[in-house]
Amino acid sequence: MSPTPNPRVLYAKVPGPGLLVAGEHLVYDPAPTIDLDEPLRGGFLTKTLLLSPEPFMRERLRDPAILTYSTPMVVGQPLVGFGLVQVLRSEKEGVTAGDYMYGFTPWEHYTVQPYVDARFDFAGANYPSYTFDMDSLVLQPVPDPLGAFPWSRLTSVLGTPGLTAFVGLESVAPDMKSGQTVYVSSGASGVGSMVVQLCKSKGLRVIASASSDSKADYIRTLGADVAFNYKTTSVGSALAEHGPLDYYWDNVCGQQLEQAIQNMALNGVILACGAISEYNTPAEDCYGVKTLALVFKRRLRIQGFLVSDGMPTLLPRFLAEVPVLLAQGKLKSEEQLFVGLEKGIEAFLSLYDGTSKAKPVVVVDAAYA
Ligand SMILES: NC(=O)c1ccc[n+]([C@@H]2O[C@H](COP(=O)([O-])OP(=O)(O)OC[C@H]3O[C@@H](n4cnc5c(N)ncnc54)[C@H](OP(=O)(O)O)[C@@H]3O)[C@@H](O)[C@H]2O)c1
Repeated sequence: MSPTPNPRVLYAKVPGPGLLVAGEHLVYDPAPTIDLDEPLRGGFLTKTLLLSPEPFMRERLRDPAILTYSTPMVVGQPLVGFGLVQVLRSEKEGVTAGDYMYGFTPWEHYTVQPYVDARFDFAGANYPSYTFDMDSLVLQPVPDPLGAFPWSRLTSVLGTPGLTAFVGLESVAPDMKSGQTVYVSSGASGVGSMVVQLCKSKGLRVIASASSDSKADYIRTLGADVAFNYKTTSVGSALAEHGPLDYYWDNVCGQQLEQAIQNMALNGVILACGAISEYNTPAEDCYGVKTLALVFKRRLRIQGFLVSDGMPTLLPRFLAEVPVLLAQGKLKSEEQLFVGLEKGIEAFLSLYDGTSKAKPVVVVDAAYA
């Protein structure tokens, strides 16, 4: 067969701290081609349908000598992240042409799976025990929603964001009770919007914030009791007015963590999910929380978790409960679609430059918009 274009988004250069530069660190490369009849060597050929830019990907774009909780990506190879693919041909037992699969996949149109070149060669012994081999998040079969909900929900409610919210709540705060109060930062994000809805379904009073009035309006449609724009309303004064907090779901860290600690109730619990305010900031410039003494004075618990920690035990429950709630219209989500892989870098950078309007999704195959 004649070569088929196989554009990709390349991880071209290791960035330092700070925002990534399109065309320098990440490059859209339309030139590669693939022979769709090429040998599969026991694997399977996939067509990329949707890609999910997610904040954790930024930390993977670093000097591999820097050890942290994630393994790095490989320079000179496509970006890798969660995505929805369809199998075109297969030589692998259990994988059939036509199957839909979700999991880690390179940012390119077609891939012979399992891809190898973009996979970081993880030698666990050389890494701290807290490092997780990200490339182990391989593709898993997912059902066709058959019109019950849009395909893009596979990247939000049913993807890592939804699973993260579910795992965090069930593993760190299984004792949440009706009538308690929770504050959710980045409440309009993929993770935050699910936390808001799951906490409401447990009967909690939910306070949440985001960076614009329209995002705050969106959070209200999810059922939050109080939603505010943290750019125009001080987090401290909003929490003083509506707290004290039994729980704080922390997506951002920095000053918001400081304000939450000051407004926690006795025995309050902080679920440390992420620190998006710091991912592009050198460590020495990150905000230093000054009120940690309140942790012992108010007997607070701060617990961090990774979604991957809870997958073995909680994924079956998530798959049994959440798709049903979604199909019944009991869980909402908004995605911002970037149509075309050439929009992929813009979609990824929108997570950090304040331009994202909802959970970004890169639609590689327009039929899945
Ligand atoms: N622990 C885990 O296993 C795990 C798994 C998945 C995600 N996470 C974390 O969960 C958080 C949310 O992820 P997501 O996938 O839901 O993200 P998302 O839907 O892509 O949304 C990210 C949001 O972060 C906010 N943001 C960006 N820069 C910020 C800054 N400097 N300060 C404050 N907020 C900022 C923006 O909301 P506003 O416009 O409202 O500020 C943006 O919409 C991230 O910290 C991520 O790393 C953790």
